This record gives sequence, C-alpha cells and structure tokens, in this order.
Amino acid sequence: GDASLITHALASDVLTRLRDVQTEQVEFRKGLVKLGRICGYEIIDGAMETEYVTVETPLTETMGQRVKGLDDVVIVNVLRAATPFVEGLLKAFPRARQGVISASRDEAAGMDGSGQFPISVDYVKLPDIEPEDTVIVADPMLATGSTMCAVLERVLEGQPEPENLFVLSAVSAPEGLLAVGDAVPEAELLTVAIDDELDDDGYIVPGLGDAGDRAFR
Ligand code: PRP
Repeated sequence: GDASLITHALASDVLTRLRDVQTEQVEFRKGLVKLGRICGYEIIDGAMETEYVTVETPLTETMGQRVKGLDDVVIVNVLRAATPFVEGLLKAFPRARQGVISASRDEAAGMDGSGQFPISVDYVKLPDIEPEDTVIVADPMLATGSTMCAVLERVLEGQPEPENLFVLSAVSAPEGLLAVGDAVPEAELLTVAIDDELDDDGYIVPGLGDAGDRAFR
C-alpha cells in the first residue's frame, strides 16, 4: 500500500499541459500517451532488474545490459480514460499481455458515508496472472479509489499473487490512495501528482477535469 511519486521532470511537464483547460482533445490524448510512456520508463528504471549479457557488435564481443522481466508484464486498461495512457505504456512494455475492464462510478447515486461511489463493472477480459508477472493497473485518475478497488478485486480474484503489482495513475487524491492502500496493501501506488482534495462531487481538485471526456468527447 505504499505510494510513490513519479518525479521525472517530463512527467510533470506533460501533466501540467494536461491540467491546462486550454489543452484541447487531440493534444490532451497525445499528452496521456506521452505520460504513459514516461511512466513506463520510470517503472522499468525503479522496479525492474537488469542483467549483464554478452553482445556481438559488428566489430567485437562486449558486455551489455538487458532489462529482465519484460516478457512477464500484464497491463490492465480501465476504460475509458486509460486507453491513451495504456497506449503510451505499451511503448515501454511492447510485449505486455493486456486486460480490459470497464468500470465506472454511479454518479447519480453519489458518494456514500465513507466517501465511496457504487461502481458498475460491465466488461471484464483479463489474462491469467503468473507469479513472475509485473502487473500494472492503469487509470489516469484516482479520486475516491472506488473504481480502482472494484477493478483490483476482479483482477486479483482467483489468481496467484504477482511478483509486482502497480496501480498507476497520473493524478491522485489523498483519499483514493488511502482507500486503495487499505484495500490492497500489496499494491504499490504510483502517481505523477497527489492533489489537494476531492470536491463534493468526488472530483479531484485542482485535478484536470474529467479525463475520459477531455480525451474522447
Ligand atoms: C473516472 C476515472 C476513474 C474514476 C476515478 O472514470 O477515469 O476511472 O473516475 O474515480 P474514483 O477513484 O472516485 O472511482 P469515470 O467513471 O468518469 O468513467 P470514464 O473513464 O468512462 O469517463
């Protein structure tokens, strides 16, 4: 349930453009792709082991370094805002197996007394998890954490515990990080920013608005 920040300067740069209300649909979507790529590189840098290998250049044999585990990666796309974000992640993890899950907040029902939304999960297509896998569940927004808790339940149910489990978001509210950390303590929470608070409608403030709407509408 630990939370860590992705501190790469370019991640903050892209996120700042995503926050900007002037950033329109095409730029917004491209920004999410770019952010996904940077986050993927940061996950590799921070969490994945490397090994020394010999490599034959056109001139001679020398030592090189390879990242281990790139063949054992599962990325879960939480529809719909995560789609461009995952497209970027796939540039860092081209051989990842992918899961897709559609989960959304019942906005009409509103938040309950513990600050959670009821979540409807409509479509679930997930690969099996192997113990050696690095699993990355991606959603640009972690607000109350209701969506992510429901998603993680489905992703992990009946599966062996993976080697690494990352919940990756661009913008998180403290409430969401706490809720997911409590519900799934084995998950490592990665986010580019932790914002100030949630408003009465469960929107992250300052946030970036509704990522799904800004990317797709
Ligand atoms: C948004 C966002 C997350 C969720 C976060 O999706 O993309 O999935 O809300 O909120 P939570 O942490 O309080 O659950 P939304 O339900 O708007 O669906 P969409 O991606 O289809 O727009």
